[in-house]
Amino acid sequence: MCGIVGIISNEPAAAQAIEALKRLEYRGYDSSGVASLSSDGRIERLRAEGKLKNLAAKLNANPLFGHIAIGHTRWATHGRPTEDNAHPHATERVAVVHNGIIENFRELRAEFEKDGVKFSSETDTEAVLHLVDRALQKSGDPTKAIAEVLPRLKGAFALGFVFSGHDNLLIGARQGAPLAVGHGEGEMYLGSDALALAPFTDTVTYLEEGDWVVLSREGVTIHDRTNTIVKRAKQKSGAGAFLVDKGNHRHFMAKEIAEQPEVVGRTLAHYIDMNAGRVHLPVTLPFDWNKLTRITITACGTASYAGHVAKYWFEQIARLPVEVDVASEFRYREAPLLDSGLAIFISQSGETADTLAGLRYAKAQGQFILSVVNVPTSSIARESDVVIPTLAGPEIGVASTKAFTCQLTALACLALAAGRARGTLSEADEQALVSDLVAVPALMVEALKSEAHIEHVAHDMAKAKDVLYLGRGTSYPLALEGALKLKEISYIHAEAYAAGELKHGPIALIDEDLPVIVIAPHDPLYEKTVSNMQEVAARGGRIILISDREGLHEAGLKTLAGIELPKMNPRFAPIVYSVPVQLLAYHAAVALGKDVDQPRNLAKSVTVE
Ligand code: F6R
Repeated sequence: MCGIVGIISNEPAAAQAIEALKRLEYRGYDSSGVASLSSDGRIERLRAEGKLKNLAAKLNANPLFGHIAIGHTRWATHGRPTEDNAHPHATERVAVVHNGIIENFRELRAEFEKDGVKFSSETDTEAVLHLVDRALQKSGDPTKAIAEVLPRLKGAFALGFVFSGHDNLLIGARQGAPLAVGHGEGEMYLGSDALALAPFTDTVTYLEEGDWVVLSREGVTIHDRTNTIVKRAKQKSGAGAFLVDKGNHRHFMAKEIAEQPEVVGRTLAHYIDMNAGRVHLPVTLPFDWNKLTRITITACGTASYAGHVAKYWFEQIARLPVEVDVASEFRYREAPLLDSGLAIFISQSGETADTLAGLRYAKAQGQFILSVVNVPTSSIARESDVVIPTLAGPEIGVASTKAFTCQLTALACLALAAGRARGTLSEADEQALVSDLVAVPALMVEALKSEAHIEHVAHDMAKAKDVLYLGRGTSYPLALEGALKLKEISYIHAEAYAAGELKHGPIALIDEDLPVIVIAPHDPLYEKTVSNMQEVAARGGRIILISDREGLHEAGLKTLAGIELPKMNPRFAPIVYSVPVQLLAYHAAVALGKDVDQPRNLAKSVTVE
């Protein structure tokens, strides 16, 4: 799960590759590297452990002037994140960058080692390198060599190659991992996504599964997996429209939390006819809500918690049973799916390997595939029958924030549409709910105003070794999301439980060192949650209650730190309550001096299983 780029340019291409890689760091940042050609056609490369800035510093000290380059930012799968394992891998004839996993690399490596070939890294990629190098030694023809090697590779990958002595030739290949070709003026590009290429061009061609592509300054030739030359459409990526900077914020995550009122509003405007006060989906659905008996929702991590919240909405508003599973389980558990059922896949990146595999499983089982994605050009979007885009804009912070609240927003609209179509929601009730939904961005603005107080609470919480989150109803998946957010960016251990489950085990954890975050808007389940909170207080637990004025007032606990949110229809509280949950994690992590936007061991887009 890495980012790759390739550039044939009219200026020093390694520096341009670093510019492109900056936009791919979300895919991994364990190490990075570039390879270019010297004026006499030799492969030159620079690699560095850690963040891209280390590579940029190396390039500054030792500029590469070649007008062709490949570049890589790595999330380690095979081999530790050392410089030796960093890409590009190279022989004197060829250099390669790779995203994904070569599943048969052990067998390939054994084949070379038997012949006395020495490997200089622990990576699976190096097996590809030696295959191409050996083919080049035979034919001397790069295109022939790649055509010969690709059928030998098993797994999911995207590859980019440069060849010594060929300063007008770049070859890319895609199988199971995304790869886009960028078309410039006398320049050509390759990238893991269109965003990487946005500084240079917004005219792109997305390669299809099994495609491989030969690029030169004059143009591209695309081959499919049978080596037949094929045409793939050019499209406008629109990626250039998005500014990828932090604005006045210290971190991307802070900026992305702050812009939620705007992007949630944008997403609402896409799905709601504001004049009629009703949901209006701008797509034709290829299924009939009335014929559905069940929905299956599949996603990973934060996106799966959006699915859990949506389960309550679909079941309560549209009376449609919903099953939610994490994609890594769903894809292998051989779930029997009813004929012509609806399977919903939720993903910010649209590239998560497990989610994509789950989608393909559901498709093979005859399901209608609906995806809720933030990247409309992604693999998940392209393989879906219908796409419900979230209009969050590029999310750069590794911890998902605005994409989550936009997923919730789009799913809420979908649940309302389902309720209307199935007759479980009257027009008047729909209008009332729509008006509550439309109020959400302003309520988020209100929630953001509590940031200084939340920061104060977070500083105290940051001293803890463990934190417990509790919630009932839709606040339960939000509690799960809160615990995930805290773990991933502050490295504080956190757990979440449905409040009613507390006494079935986790209550044993409660002592005066354990902060317990209770998410409890004043809704019909509030009383029940408060009883659970009393059980925590009775055992000396340090409670932080997130609720509205009524909820904080009625809780009547002295030991309590309260975070007050405005009154709202509790149905949509998870969207607004996400704000303090995210801010708590953010400020705890900042207080601890952690790398908020790029936490250790993580990557934004998980394209390996
Ligand atoms: C957590 C987080 C991850 C992602 C998960 C799925 O903050 O961002 O848990 O939600 O990796 O990613 P997407 O939504 O791209 O499929």
